Amino acid sequence: MQSFDFYNPTRIVFGPEKISKLATLVPAEARVLILYGGASAQKNGTLDEVRAALGGRVVQEFGGIEPNPTYETLMQAVEQIRREKLDFLLAVGGGSVIDGTKFVAAAVNFPGEPWDILETHGRSVRSALPFASVLTLPATGSEMNSGAVITKKATHAKLAFMSPMVFPKFSILDPTKTYSLPPQQIANGVVDAFVHIVEQYLTYPVQGMAQDRFAEGLLQTLIEIGPKALATPEDYDVRANLMWVATLALNGLIGAGVPQDWATHMIGHEITALHGVDHARTLAIVLPSLLNIQRQDKHAKLLQYAERVWQIRDGSEEQRIDAAIEQTRQFFEGLGIKTRLSGYGIGPEAIEPIVAQLVAHGMSALGERQNITPEVSRRILAAAA
Ligand code: NZQ
Ligand code: ZN
Repeated sequence: MQSFDFYNPTRIVFGPEKISKLATLVPAEARVLILYGGASAQKNGTLDEVRAALGGRVVQEFGGIEPNPTYETLMQAVEQIRREKLDFLLAVGGGSVIDGTKFVAAAVNFPGEPWDILETHGRSVRSALPFASVLTLPATGSEMNSGAVITKKATHAKLAFMSPMVFPKFSILDPTKTYSLPPQQIANGVVDAFVHIVEQYLTYPVQGMAQDRFAEGLLQTLIEIGPKALATPEDYDVRANLMWVATLALNGLIGAGVPQDWATHMIGHEITALHGVDHARTLAIVLPSLLNIQRQDKHAKLLQYAERVWQIRDGSEEQRIDAAIEQTRQFFEGLGIKTRLSGYGIGPEAIEPIVAQLVAHGMSALGERQNITPEVSRRILAAAA
């Protein structure tokens, strides 16, 4: 196992009717800004529960944070906070609202142009306003991590930042709030969490025995509950497990002390920025093709994945690897998520601009061995056509 420094200060409050706990979790004297997305949190009653729990505190609201939250929209929230002297942020929504809130928290007192937070991938963040979240969509893990992904509309740049300053103080996870999610968003959530686990697991062996077994258990749980989450939307146990697995998939625990490969995400972000494809769907396009092209580097772990996650034991090593990659693709397709660029109306002429954006954003040495050069990314995309 490699050396590591694991830190995660986010408190998780999990279960039905836990939104009422905001009454004691948010400081009594706080001047609160509730941030949310479109209409979903109002429609399913989450916002009303949040407002009721905050009681007599000073509370303002900022709605309209879009999926793949934009710098342009978020800067309006920053202005409102500065103008109204608000001091505690509460994100109510999915990954986009929570990520957007992280950026806003870091931007309010940022000296200089806040886009610099993204350009420095968070290294320039020295402080942030305290914030918390009420999660309504299990997928990103943003509710218990210190990362965020923000898009600048003007330049089609979708960049990530991380900072220990932007861990949520606490996050409330009420699985019943996910019942109103449309099937596409549930499928997205299953795939996003699955790929987060794979990117911390499917690299090369370093004898991280607990991390490996933990990752394999999370993957197997997703394989078991993913289809059920679509078939029986109001099955509490299924939704509760999905919510907790998605959080555990990206809260730092399984990635501590093991190599990581975020190439699928980095290539996927460029596809979203240029073509507006949902985040998880870009991952479903890139991952099977990346595993195939990187199969030599990932050989030992691909065999372990085949055996322990998919119970594939017959055939030559290469046949077992082929079967594991095919099972992965079929799992995504079975959830209704297409795994080829052509499935989204994106033709081969789109590949070069995606590679050019990777280069422009410094993504020229991706993967656990930094050997996914622009040329390799081009091959991965061509194989995903
Ligand atoms: O805007 P509203 O009306 O709220 O509707 C949203 C949105 O349209 C809807 N929704 C959310 N909860 C709902 C609901 N609809 C009905 N009932 C509910 N309970 O779902 C739609 C998608 O929401 P969004 O927040 O965009 O989805 P997700 O949670 O998948 O977040 C995606 C964003 O997170 C980033 C992605 O890049 C993308 O920008 N990521 C963040 C990560 C992190 N912070 O660690 C890691 C991830 O890899 C990812 O990159
Ligand atoms: Zn993701």
